[in-house]
Amino acid sequence: MSNSPERYTITAALPYTNGPIHIGHLAGVYVPADIYARYLRMQGNDVAFVCGSDEHGVPITIKAKKEGVTPQDIVDKYDGIIRESFKEFGISFNNYSRTSAKVHHDTASEFFKTMYENGKFIEETTKQLYDDKAGQFLADRFVTGTCPKCGNEEAYGDQCESCGTSLNATDLINPKSAITGEVPSLKETRHWFLPLDQYQEWLDEWIVKGHAHDWKSNVHGQVKSWLNDGLRARAVTRDLDWGIPVPVEGGDGKVLYVWFDAPIGYISSTKEWAEREGKDWKPYWKDENTRLIHFIGKDNIVFHCIIFPVMLKAHGEFILPENVPANEFLNLEGKKLSTSKNWAVWLHEYLEDFPHKQDVLRYALTANAPETKDNDFTWKDFQARNNNELVAIFGNFINRVVVLTNKYYSGIVPKPNEYSEVDEQTIAELKAYPAVIASSIEKYRFREAQAELMNLARLGNKYLADEEPWKLIKTDEERVKTVMYVALQIASALATLSEPFLPFSSAKLQKMLNFTDAESKLSGEEYSQWDKIATRDSLLPGGHQIGKAELLFSKIEDKEIEKQLDKLEATKTANAAADKEVEPQKETASFEDFTKMDLRVGTIIEAHKMPKTKKLMVIKVDTGLDKRTVVSGIAEHYKAENILGKKVTVLANLAPRKLRGVASEGMILMTENAQGKLVFVNPDEDGVEPGATIN
Ligand code: MF3
Ligand code: ZN
Repeated sequence: MSNSPERYTITAALPYTNGPIHIGHLAGVYVPADIYARYLRMQGNDVAFVCGSDEHGVPITIKAKKEGVTPQDIVDKYDGIIRESFKEFGISFNNYSRTSAKVHHDTASEFFKTMYENGKFIEETTKQLYDDKAGQFLADRFVTGTCPKCGNEEAYGDQCESCGTSLNATDLINPKSAITGEVPSLKETRHWFLPLDQYQEWLDEWIVKGHAHDWKSNVHGQVKSWLNDGLRARAVTRDLDWGIPVPVEGGDGKVLYVWFDAPIGYISSTKEWAEREGKDWKPYWKDENTRLIHFIGKDNIVFHCIIFPVMLKAHGEFILPENVPANEFLNLEGKKLSTSKNWAVWLHEYLEDFPHKQDVLRYALTANAPETKDNDFTWKDFQARNNNELVAIFGNFINRVVVLTNKYYSGIVPKPNEYSEVDEQTIAELKAYPAVIASSIEKYRFREAQAELMNLARLGNKYLADEEPWKLIKTDEERVKTVMYVALQIASALATLSEPFLPFSSAKLQKMLNFTDAESKLSGEEYSQWDKIATRDSLLPGGHQIGKAELLFSKIEDKEIEKQLDKLEATKTANAAADKEVEPQKETASFEDFTKMDLRVGTIIEAHKMPKTKKLMVIKVDTGLDKRTVVSGIAEHYKAENILGKKVTVLANLAPRKLRGVASEGMILMTENAQGKLVFVNPDEDGVEPGATIN
């Protein structure tokens, strides 16, 4: 990094208020941004960490329509849930705003007007996609079609999520309205376009050449490839009624494109914060000595590396981002996270199911962060990270140190005697950690940083295991004082260095070690200071009183994990049922047709798989009339021994027929459940859905 800046503006992508926050959002954006912001504050930096709800855009209007409510109802609901869950999870935003706020409408309107007045837009009447049936223009998510670049058949009118390319709706091959399913027609309409092509060279200099080494390769590579393809003008206004009205002549009935207004939300959020704090917002966006960093997921790269910077540049008064450390995607149990398919671990539900375990999720997500490639979250891994790392390494070390200090010295840090070689080396290793962890954080390598934090806890564990103070106490009390003193220094360093990653546990540990008290003993300076670990002689001075041991982490049992896995199974079943097409009704049967069928209750008294077949089972049924043989295609779904004694429904007067040489005299009625398993007819059976045919 270049010389040190005066302040930082850290932004985290504004979440859409069409659903709650899930672990994909957290791992991709909010946890890394929070680690970074907390770290910078600990270094004594002036930080504005801002976010807010993204409340415009088509997905919200689609959802409102589906649920028969207004878009405002939708955004109010999710803004509430999101805000609350972020707070409880400990994301340390300086401000969380929303794009429906007045300050944002004003800021975005002003921004547009300034660009308009300075001639930065092209105003043009062009033919745009129109849904005649819905009486509406189709842009963004109102239209899907085939991506001209990668062939993905479900690209949206503004972006293909498969290859990340930003599109104009008219680029789509075979477009289809998402409202009516109709093939759109073309209709003339007037809009304002941002001529991205005019900034192509400037972007090439600034990003492709200028940030080849300090930006992540996934981000740099994407930008380079789009510039290679060549940029084209893009409309920044829409024919919609949900959004910020276009504030210039001819703008009636039109609103700003959501991706024009949303990033300006970072600025409005900063304004809202500054107003509340009695500060001036302008240096955070206009002073060259401010470092602006955008935390986002990979689907947002084009907007934060091309479109928003072009807006900032065209406007003329703003600084540009110093870095855009975009992450790849997190999957859940091997499948893509999806809000609409409910395939997610929702933050507000996690907080309910695992109260006071915010740090465990933060830890597991950072340990698996999709920093360089897509990654997978599994509940088993979550459990293992907690039980084998947080509990067994970090928690165990702290517990031993605090318990022994209380036991041997009534909680008073002993004065050390002369250091042995091992002590010297351990202290030297300890002092290297702050710089190592800091350097990883500064390079946006949070998983590496957190792994180093854990290595420090491992160092502590190893030291205690090698020195064995619990044995030495019987033979060499003086030596134990030194050992415990060294161990306490490690515990103290952990309390500080864990703050960005595990803020709740760090606070608990700092309290346990009585940091505020130590502060006054050490000349009144702020105690939890990163760099002091390397320079200060003593982190917890001899004579300092610590508190009693409290458990930092606790084991997560199998049954808690199974409960979560069951929840996901239920989602799978529900999705499979929703996806499954119900067979159309057959032609009408007369009452006579029906009475012709002789249906009887029977009991299975014998069963065996028919040799050399996969599916067939030879079953003997007691029908009350007789005991007869029925051949049924259920051998892949049931074992013979498991169906003995089962009561079933038998169509008794079905004309007999031979199957592989065995005469089948009737039919046992079966249906298929949502997982595709054949089950005996019993509509209460798990997974049997309305519409399943009986045959
Ligand atoms: N709402 C967008 C998303 O979830 C992100 C908006 S980021 C901002 O993908 F820059 F526009 F604010
Ligand atoms: Zn594509």
